[in-house]
Amino acid sequence: MNILSPSILAADFSRLGEQIREVEHAGAQYLHIDVMDGVFVPDISFGMPVILSIRKCTDIFFDVHLMIDRPERYIKEFADCGANLINFHIEATQDVVGTIQKIRFLGKKAGITISPETPAKAVEPYLRLVDMVLVMTVKPGFGGQKLMPECLEKVREVRAMAAERGLDIDIEVDGGIRIDNVELALEAGANVIVAGSAIFRNRISENVSRFLEKMLK
Ligand code: DX5
Ligand code: ZN
Repeated sequence: MNILSPSILAADFSRLGEQIREVEHAGAQYLHIDVMDGVFVPDISFGMPVILSIRKCTDIFFDVHLMIDRPERYIKEFADCGANLINFHIEATQDVVGTIQKIRFLGKKAGITISPETPAKAVEPYLRLVDMVLVMTVKPGFGGQKLMPECLEKVREVRAMAAERGLDIDIEVDGGIRIDNVELALEAGANVIVAGSAIFRNRISENVSRFLEKMLK
């Protein structure tokens, strides 16, 4: 099934709870939560206290995207504050397998993420160990960028590698996805769609409905 995961990075943080309920009521199945540390990426977003506090206002599935250096240091903390799925960048750690195991041991779904400069084949050794591969379609670190179409080729490659092994994993795309290009991402083989500015900039419920219309037909 195709899943929509609105990214709260583009939300109005002074009305965060309200806007999360709005995407949930409009039918979004996941909530994408971008954690940035100012080291792995230049920007700093938010961390555990924010996630813990929004966990109290919704039961929606939390899709946490860690853009942090050495994510293995904080897996327990993110699991404890309510993540359902934890995605980390394979470029950010020397211990990909150990980090996946930590996430799984805590009963959470595990995802590995690749930035635009990382080739699709880098995920190959881990495909059997993960629930999701997140293929970034912009340089990680900022919302509101333009989709890099060459990254959709990597989505195709990851989907083919998974199919060859008989694995039905989720493939998520993140960055620059809008109503007018979401079909390209689905057609390339993605089934979990992140959208930030295309959802939260204005008319939130209407945007969610328009995405779902294209994704669920
Ligand atoms: C970028 C983040 C994205 C971002 C997407 O580093 O990982 O999740 O919020 O925002 P849009 O959809 O505006 O490109
Ligand atoms: Zn993200």
